[in-house]
Amino acid sequence: MRRVTFASTNQNKYREVRSILGPRGIDVEFAKMELVEIQSDSLEAIAKEKARGAFSQMSRPVIVEDDGLFIDALSGFPGQYSSYVFKTIGNAGILKLLSGMHDRSASFVSLIAFCDGKDVAVFEGKVAGKISEKEARGGWGYDPIFVPDGAKCTYAELENKNDYSHRRKALDSFAEWYLHL
Ligand code: IMP
Repeated sequence: MRRVTFASTNQNKYREVRSILGPRGIDVEFAKMELVEIQSDSLEAIAKEKARGAFSQMSRPVIVEDDGLFIDALSGFPGQYSSYVFKTIGNAGILKLLSGMHDRSASFVSLIAFCDGKDVAVFEGKVAGKISEKEARGGWGYDPIFVPDGAKCTYAELENKNDYSHRRKALDSFAEWYLHL
């Protein structure tokens, strides 16, 4: 069994990361920590810096994640500001911004950044989909308003979100690489 630490403040992400990497033979330990997010237009630059910061606090192989929800009709907003936008206007605010709009297409992007003190490697997972008309019940974050392509309901309502998720795609690439290191 390989091991890696997942550094984040988000227990929901950890639960999903563990459920995706565990069956692939990677044991995931959770390190709850607030990581400094640099100001940047690039999710990759933010994720890499977070990974270096996490490694410098723990001195063991670590992964961090940075996500963004990109809404086409809003020119990619909230994108790299997804966390701030969720805390401020939330799902109700996003639905209001899109009210009456025909084009509800969006994509959810996950960047997993790994650091072991030598390398910083980044893995991307991207899922196209659309923003629902109404907020569903359950899930966390943007789960109640994001419908991945190929599904009939939101992330929040899916029986197995991992079958579709941006996080699963990024972690599949990470696992493939990590197991052959
Ligand atoms: P973060 O900056 O990586 O934490 O993520 C940006 C925003 O997207 C935060 O508000 C997260 O709660 C939200 N988010 C990230 N991944 C997911 C997901 O799988 N479902 C719902 N919301 C998510």
